Amino acid sequence: MKRGRITGTGRSVPARILTNKDLEEFVDTTDEWIFTRTGIRERRVAGPDESLSTFALPAAQAALDMAGVAGKDVDLVICATVTPDMPFPATANLIQDRIGAARAASFDLSAGCTGFVYALGVAQRFIESGASKNALVIGGEVLTKIMDWTDRTTCVLFGDGAGAVLVQAHDDETEDGRGVIGSAMHSDGSLGDLICIPGGGSKMPISPEVFDARLAYIKMKGNETFKIAVRSLVEVSDEALTQCGLGHQDVAWFIPHQANQRIIDAVGQRLEVRDGHTYVNIDRYGNTSAASIPIALDELNRDGKIQEGDVLLFSAFGAGLTWGANVVRW
Ligand code: ACO
Repeated sequence: MKRGRITGTGRSVPARILTNKDLEEFVDTTDEWIFTRTGIRERRVAGPDESLSTFALPAAQAALDMAGVAGKDVDLVICATVTPDMPFPATANLIQDRIGAARAASFDLSAGCTGFVYALGVAQRFIESGASKNALVIGGEVLTKIMDWTDRTTCVLFGDGAGAVLVQAHDDETEDGRGVIGSAMHSDGSLGDLICIPGGGSKMPISPEVFDARLAYIKMKGNETFKIAVRSLVEVSDEALTQCGLGHQDVAWFIPHQANQRIIDAVGQRLEVRDGHTYVNIDRYGNTSAASIPIALDELNRDGKIQEGDVLLFSAFGAGLTWGANVVRW
């Protein structure tokens, strides 16, 4: 059987840093409120001329360079995002062209903050079925451009950036079970209104009325989302581990979606993650949605903290509602 192994990681984030203190200047909030409720100290913000591909492309190229694979050999590009450069063509098509992955299948995947976990699960299946040999999976967002800066309940939470992995097909027999070994994905559309952008699509096309009513920006019922997030993340993490015949004690690194430090702590505790083995960077980036797990993975990887054979657990929760988890043996 073929197995998809992550052989390269990359990330790219905007240069501009917006701190909680900076936000105090124009939002009715405080550094103290944001930090104690979320764990966020600062986030990265794209400039006026920057878009998703500004970050997704260098993140993808860095993953290819680490793997030593040329863009022309990539046969699948999946870009998980809710903030593409434009409604279409897909940002994945732009990346496919720029890296020279001639004729590769490429598409965007919309699953909110769970986007990267879904995309990695899809790539895993493409590889296991023999449909792909070199799959490029990107999670990226420029959420600050769809933020209502007058809504303090959302605008303090999100940030911009992109992360990427290259997943390569290997024969399982020769690889000691290393690779993406389990993925679980779920959704409940009946709770879609908890995190949404009501306007700007075909139901409510952008118009002066939609614009004035601020309907083309992120709306979130944070408190209700919080309660469901903890339960779902624990359940789906357990499901993915069980698929692989693994338990809590086997996890070397827990890399959760970075939505809220309190959610991360509560989930880590229930999953009995060893002290210091949950990777957290929310203080520096805020919630970057589909980008948060691949950015975190790249930081951990480039810092040399992952050993061969380590079991990594990724889990995420977000708009849809969607939730999911991947298990990787490094
Ligand atoms: N500064 C100061 N006060 C604020 C701010 C702010 N930025 N935002 C809200 N408040 C106030 C509220 O008005 C409220 O005041 P009140 O009690 O007088 O009404 C009070 O703080 C408490 O508000 P809550 O919403 O109850 O605060 P909570 O502790 O729930 O924290 C938060 C809010 C951080 C949003 C939290 O609920 C959360 O993290 N939720 C989960 C988000 C999530 O996981 N999203 C999924 C991914 S997103 C995606 O897919 C795109």
